Amino acid sequence: MSTAEMVQQNKDFTLVSWSAQGAWNPTIIERGEGVYVYDADGKRYLDWASQLVNVNIGHSHPKVVRAIQEQAAKLCYVNPSFGTPERGRLGELLAEVTPGTLTKTLFANGGTDAIENAMKAARLYTGREKILTRYNSYHGGTFAAASAGGDPRRLANEPGVPWIVRTPDPYSYRNPVYRGRTQEEGDAIIIELIDDIIIREGPENCAAILVEGYSGTSGVIQPSAVYFNGLRALCDKYGILLIVDEVMSGFGRTGEWFGIDHYPNAQPDIMVMAKGITSGYVPLGATIVSEKIAAHFDNNTLWAGLTYSAHTLAMAAGIATIEVYREENLIERARDMGKVLRKGLNDLAEKHPVIGEIRGAGLHQVLELVKNRDTREPLSDYNKPLTEPMQKVAKSLKESGMNVFTRWNMIFNTPPLTVSEAQLQDGLAGLDQALTLIDGYYEG
Ligand SMILES: Cc1ncc(COP(=O)(O)O)c(C=O)c1O
Repeated sequence: MSTAEMVQQNKDFTLVSWSAQGAWNPTIIERGEGVYVYDADGKRYLDWASQLVNVNIGHSHPKVVRAIQEQAAKLCYVNPSFGTPERGRLGELLAEVTPGTLTKTLFANGGTDAIENAMKAARLYTGREKILTRYNSYHGGTFAAASAGGDPRRLANEPGVPWIVRTPDPYSYRNPVYRGRTQEEGDAIIIELIDDIIIREGPENCAAILVEGYSGTSGVIQPSAVYFNGLRALCDKYGILLIVDEVMSGFGRTGEWFGIDHYPNAQPDIMVMAKGITSGYVPLGATIVSEKIAAHFDNNTLWAGLTYSAHTLAMAAGIATIEVYREENLIERARDMGKVLRKGLNDLAEKHPVIGEIRGAGLHQVLELVKNRDTREPLSDYNKPLTEPMQKVAKSLKESGMNVFTRWNMIFNTPPLTVSEAQLQDGLAGLDQALTLIDGYYEG
């Protein structure tokens, strides 16, 4: 079958997410190895996005591939009321790598359903209804998870669930609260505003505050410890649970095991993981709860379940993936390579005034592009189709053999944690070339 025929077959018989179908013209990917994927015509792409910021250990890692093959030959599936050696071991590993007293894990198929389970567990544990979240956040695609995120992907299916309360964001580059203030000063005000929201919603109705441990597709927003410590203090004051979503920021992405590890005084009561837990090799989500919450469910039913909870192939993939993070020191590596990446992005900002702000840590960094550094007018608007300069950037990156996640006025820099310094320099050169094409759109 020719490449054109494969494209047509994909278009004729499958639907694509988050897109009008006619606008979809897929590149057909046939294989992946390390930081590269290869299309049906043999063209190589540097995977600067780690696909959807999940293929953290790179493509086709032999250890994980072998673990999946061996597990498939032994046992592919048993129903979730059975135990398996792999399920127990992965649970134990997650208790080891997650912070604080997080101990017992409920498995799901991906981030969305793990978030749903976290919200259910919090509501069952507290007997309260409302979940406080942020506007600049994404927690998944089903009705409740989409309502929880403020991301505009929710809008077309609203009204969503009625028990979500959104709070203001610690987005110092754009939130007016921060004008003339430091990040810490603004963060302290945001916490006061959230305190006020809790009082107005009735603390006795508030089950949990749900936030990303390190924000992702909403723009890698990076508050100070004042924000996270403040959230923890509010939770303690009102008996509310802190749920931290580490679906994107987990497993070394930011140079720590989890994004929340950058804020060691803000221990979560519940943490949600997916993506990097298996590096995307097999779908898996996980909701880990503290000892105290786990003990509650010793005598109270956990009203949540899925046919594929603790799927045996996913358990085997998860164990092998965590072993790869450990054996190859990938968390430390992401921290070190993150410094190389930041230096390269800073150098690009010297050359290209469209770079308004660089945020993030480790291999989880974003460029926010503007028409003018003083007014901060974005180069492409929130929730609008990409403007001409952003389209040019995206096209140039693809032509130069890079797979890059761009959104609105943002370019995400999230390669696999296995990326080498030379591969980072290749990617930075591709970015330089793309940004050169749009220097003329700067209006400063
Ligand atoms: C922070 C965060 N939470 C939850 C999700 C949903 O995960 P999934 O797409 O695996 O259901 C995502 C997906 O991108 C995410 O980035």
